Amino acid sequence: MGLNAEAINRTALLYEKVRHIIPPMEWPGFAEDIDAILDLKRRRNAVILAHNYQTPEIFNCVADVVGDSLALARKAMEVDADVIVLAGVHFMAETAKLLNPDRTVLIPDMRAGCSLADSITAADVRLLRARYPGVPVVTYVNTSAAVKAESDICCTSGNARAVVESLGVKRVIMLPDEYLAQNVARETEVEIIAWSGHCEVHERFTQADIRQVREDYPGVIVLAHPECPPDVVMAADFAGSTAAMSDYVTRNAPPRVLLLTECSMSDNVAIQHPKVNFVRPCNLCPHMKRITLGNIRTALETMQHEVTIDPDIAVRARRAVERMLEVR
Ligand code: 13P
Ligand code: SF4
Repeated sequence: MGLNAEAINRTALLYEKVRHIIPPMEWPGFAEDIDAILDLKRRRNAVILAHNYQTPEIFNCVADVVGDSLALARKAMEVDADVIVLAGVHFMAETAKLLNPDRTVLIPDMRAGCSLADSITAADVRLLRARYPGVPVVTYVNTSAAVKAESDICCTSGNARAVVESLGVKRVIMLPDEYLAQNVARETEVEIIAWSGHCEVHERFTQADIRQVREDYPGVIVLAHPECPPDVVMAADFAGSTAAMSDYVTRNAPPRVLLLTECSMSDNVAIQHPKVNFVRPCNLCPHMKRITLGNIRTALETMQHEVTIDPDIAVRARRAVERMLEVR
């Protein structure tokens, strides 16, 4: 039997998990990498943490832990394997390193960034503090460690309101996502000063998309990520983090659903709910899509690319992330 045929044989059960989404013709192209990655994980004593936006073959076939940013941060803390491979974007790998500094954290492609993380620098945060003395800074995890280090506390889309309200103040600075800040502001009495960063994936959804889908698919349930513009979130039936959207589908099993978020999210939730009809549009995140089975395999073979953080920045950034994790 050839190498590929053996790999196909060994991964046959895994294919059963994804056959709803991945056509049989495409599987041989994945099987060899999956087989090699599973072997490398054992040899390197490594685990793979994958975000909900990773493609189905990564999410379902090689990942040990999957979830939204908050779940990945919490799980990263508990990892006792030697190596963490972060199948996601750079800020997620940095967060894992902050929370579990003794592990080697690898990201398969250093260019896997985020438009929100790129929208603000540590110097910008210092300027904001000078402009609003005494107002606490709540920083979305979609930022660099250097920006987190200038912050009082972090938040994710899953806990933003709880974090803002945990501070017991009348006014906070919330950065860098303007839309997340505006969406939270509608739900709380706390006054929110926002920055002007946007997610390049979610800012493209419009109310017109929702109107069109509601016309084409009467009765469709629309779920939106809170990085979408406020008018889009208001026109949706529910808004929440990627994990909250997935839980909504599990709890309510709507016959038809539109997830206004990254495309792989619908694929991964569809695998768990084959009877639910997932309608589009969706948008691809070019940063998330930089991670592939091929470069995960290379990362484990070569132990690259290692994520490191300047110790002075790490101490302060860790404090902001840990403070967030204490908020329930
Ligand atoms: P979640 O924390 O909801 O998974 O979102 C992360 C993200 O990057 C969304 O674009
Ligand atoms: Fe960043 Fe948007 Fe991509 Fe999430 S989807 S990683 S917020 S660019």
